[in-house]
Amino acid sequence: MNINEIIICPNCQGELISEPNKFRCKNCNSIYEVSSNIPVLISHNNSLNSQEELAKYFDSKYANDEDPWDYESSAAEKMKYEFVVNLIKSMKANTGLILDVGCSFGYLSNKFSVVSKNVIGLDVSLNALMKANEKYKKENITFISASADSIPLKENLADVVILCDGLNGMDLIGTVRDNAVKESKRVLKDNGFTIFTDYLKPEQFDTYIEYIKQHSYEIKNVYYLNDRLWYKLKYGLHAMRKTSVFKKFLSSIAIGKLLSKISSIFGKSGSNHICILAVKK
Ligand SMILES: C[S@@+](CC[C@H](N)C(=O)[O-])C[C@H]1O[C@@H](n2cnc3c(N)ncnc32)[C@H](O)[C@@H]1O
Ligand SMILES: [Zn+2]
Repeated sequence: MNINEIIICPNCQGELISEPNKFRCKNCNSIYEVSSNIPVLISHNNSLNSQEELAKYFDSKYANDEDPWDYESSAAEKMKYEFVVNLIKSMKANTGLILDVGCSFGYLSNKFSVVSKNVIGLDVSLNALMKANEKYKKENITFISASADSIPLKENLADVVILCDGLNGMDLIGTVRDNAVKESKRVLKDNGFTIFTDYLKPEQFDTYIEYIKQHSYEIKNVYYLNDRLWYKLKYGLHAMRKTSVFKKFLSSIAIGKLLSKISSIFGKSGSNHICILAVKK
């Protein structure tokens, strides 16, 4: 996949011309740097919800090289990742291109690179992507710094788009949130799938599903990840968070699976994560 052929200006959706170490929009003349081999396609247009401010904010979270969400050492998050990858495998969808929106350190992008011909990992934080590139540099993965509400890719490209802990995990609200959903659909091929996962209170699940429906996505399936007991213990025992015993407990997949079995007894009230499989019709 030649990324230069599929990227567009995040500001005006115009064609981008490749110049040494940068891209220039043929239409609005905006210049976008390539930093550490990563195209930084963040709109400089302040009226576009100040993407530069957003990038600064998330970059600061990643400033000291650690995962601010500590996802990779959490059993519940790893089980969520495993669930999503298995879901894609089970769909037997055409997976020429998977777009991972809000990809952070690229953990999922890397997993997708095994089941998909090409993967694009997109995140507003360049700091996160530099780390992702270090960890998961591969022929078929490309990382781009951009914002979910103006994805700098041509339309009808991706077979699968994923916003994993996306809409809520990225704190998207108002029109930015609406635009992120619209953009996920624009870049998706017809009959392609978007996967939305988010951490919510069970009483918020129905509103979340309705919100996705309002954006003319057809809901193919909704899954509840039975992880509420795990989070109850994580937050309930917060005072112990620095002890090695508790860290081991939180990272144990065996314990995660056991807690998940117990949570499943409570149906969707036993979940904090929802996962929606939506189709573009
Ligand atoms: C809660 S983390 C989720 C990371 C990853 N998807 C996962 O499940 O492990 C949210 C990520 O979204 C990124 N992010 C926040 N706002 C964004 C935006 N408007 N566009 C793209 N990425 C954004 C953050 O930098 C962060 O890496
Ligand atoms: Zn432009």
